[in-house]
Amino acid sequence: MDLLNTPAALRIQCRQWRKQGHSIALVPTMGFLHAGHMSLIDEARKRADKLVVSVFVNPTQFGPNEDLDRYPRDLPRDLKLAEEHGADAVFAPEPGAMYEPDHATWVEVPELAKGLCGASRPIHFRGVCTVVLKLLNLVQPDVAVFGQKDWQQLAILKRMARDLNLDAELVGMPIFREADGLAMSSRNVYLTGDERARVPAIRQGLLLMQQRVKDGETDAEQLGLMFRRHIADTLPDARIDYAAFVHPESMAPVARVDKATLLAVAVFIGKVRLIDNILLEG
Ligand code: PAF
Repeated sequence: MDLLNTPAALRIQCRQWRKQGHSIALVPTMGFLHAGHMSLIDEARKRADKLVVSVFVNPTQFGPNEDLDRYPRDLPRDLKLAEEHGADAVFAPEPGAMYEPDHATWVEVPELAKGLCGASRPIHFRGVCTVVLKLLNLVQPDVAVFGQKDWQQLAILKRMARDLNLDAELVGMPIFREADGLAMSSRNVYLTGDERARVPAIRQGLLLMQQRVKDGETDAEQLGLMFRRHIADTLPDARIDYAAFVHPESMAPVARVDKATLLAVAVFIGKVRLIDNILLEG
């Protein structure tokens, strides 16, 4: 497995593979890999001859008061895991190699980014789109694999790929969960022992909403109130950033859950912000 640190080295390697007739898969990550990332890497491994995993804590998707500096990092461990799961190359650049000091070009999908995570993280998706487009341009993959935990991110990236006629197929993989239902996230390491024990209540709240919809409740406002009540009862110290019922592709709010609807939530517990979602079959 090769470790590549510069965009030029990545481009040259991928160009060579394509000349040799190989297909290429890309898994973009911010590192500190967990089993959820591994499910993306394993899927990507099956879909192409050559597999590139990028490990880059992208500074442009973090707001000024967010956790860029303390975001967990462990490159030696990431390299070992990527190699064990069949990666042909890991791309792990320094921020200075990815962004010129006078970087001035941004990619945005404002319509899909205005709600949910975009409402409380105003520059987040601009940073995500820009770095992912840069990675897609460098690798020119046949396929790129992302997790559905960041459903809004995936919807935005798919729209960007469609609108800008990108060649790569963007694939979303189901959320990977701990045994007690907590969605896997590199940020779960921020939770204290007590918080960690209690946060599966978020997933239980999503399942409760699924049950209510199956029982015939379709009013998004009522369902939202029920979810808030569930969190207030089970995690009284938590603060709900949002609990939104939206169209799964356009991210537009819906009033009735009478066709496929995404319930996406973000909940602060202490200083940690956890996101999760469930696709409700209305
Ligand atoms: O989902 C992530 O880890 C990041 O947002 C991504 C797609 C790797 C871009 O930095």
